[in-house]
Amino acid sequence: MSNITAAITGIGSYTPPDKLTNADLEKMVETNHEWIVSRTGIEERRILKGEGKATSFMGAEAVKNLLEKTGTDPLDIDLIICGTVTGDMVFPDTANQIGIKSGCTNSFGFDINAACSGFVYSINTGAQFIETGKYKKVIVVGADMMSSIVDYEDRATCILFGDAAGAVLLEPNEEGYGIQDSILRADGSGVDYLNLKAGGSLMPASHETVDKRLHYAYQEGRVVFKHAVKGMVSATKDLLKNNNLKSEDIDWIVPHQANQRILESVANMMDFPLEKVLINIAKYGNTTSATIPLCMAEFESRFKKGDKMVLTAFGGGFTWGSTLVTWAYDGK
Ligand code: UT7
Repeated sequence: MSNITAAITGIGSYTPPDKLTNADLEKMVETNHEWIVSRTGIEERRILKGEGKATSFMGAEAVKNLLEKTGTDPLDIDLIICGTVTGDMVFPDTANQIGIKSGCTNSFGFDINAACSGFVYSINTGAQFIETGKYKKVIVVGADMMSSIVDYEDRATCILFGDAAGAVLLEPNEEGYGIQDSILRADGSGVDYLNLKAGGSLMPASHETVDKRLHYAYQEGRVVFKHAVKGMVSATKDLLKNNNLKSEDIDWIVPHQANQRILESVANMMDFPLEKVLINIAKYGNTTSATIPLCMAEFESRFKKGDKMVLTAFGGGFTWGSTLVTWAYDGK
């Protein structure tokens, strides 16, 4: 085993300016602000608008923000990994579009589709490239334009999702900072409860798939809710146990933002005081692969070098996982 760890050395983010509030949704489906806030904690989301703008636009903006904040030359970037379920096209991948749009023209890249666990899967994949010693600067992006696959006639899902992107820079560290360990899991039997059925090889696009609204995200909310709490708690418990840590040793939990009540249940079951659980769901809703880096960007100024942090997520697949990070710099 090498003694190189993958340290997070910077964070960037992008949220589109246009807001979709609960009051806006009240005009589109039969719902109300009180129900949405009490059942999900969400007050508004961001929606990407504009001709020719898609997930890679947001990803590239987050990367440009990251490069600027860290003073990094885009030509020094070796690899871009993008967690997303809403790539610009079925192929080619979105990571390469982000690369060209952000000037990272010496890099290669690829996408990871793990739904709401996309960022946790991607950051662990990126860390492997750093730990081998071969790659020096890896950018991990979480970006999703959920408004492109949300059915705005389905009140149980359209209230949840928004658009955003976040990005982190991974660099080698020999003092032990960075990604320490992770538990990543998947259970394909969850496919029926959270999916987008049409447009893949199983059900190519046809008039029928459009008529049946099969190009939109589908979710059985109650089933997913229960699995999400169970998955995030079990992965985090195993992770702490494997590293001889207790809940009180952890400074910050950065969870995937799916539902305020899920986050409160996880905190409660893990004995994490809510002040340690970073939550910004009220402003952005569930932005799928983007939630964790977006949340890290928002709370970056609170982080201190040496802080212990757990990133945890659950999503379609089912996929889930938790990652232990030792923070590498004092937030600014
Ligand atoms: O990020 C990936 C993973 N995703 C998640 O983790 C999401 C997990 N699930 C959830 O967050 C929640 O299940 C939802 C927010 C989707 C739904 O909340 P819930 O408390 O589980 O509601 P429910 O599905 O049990 O529905 C309760 C009631 C139903 O009415 P009846 O059958 O009791 O008369 C729904 O029709 O609430 C109704 N309802 C709504 N009412 C007003 C569902 N959506 C709405 C709405 N406004 N938008």
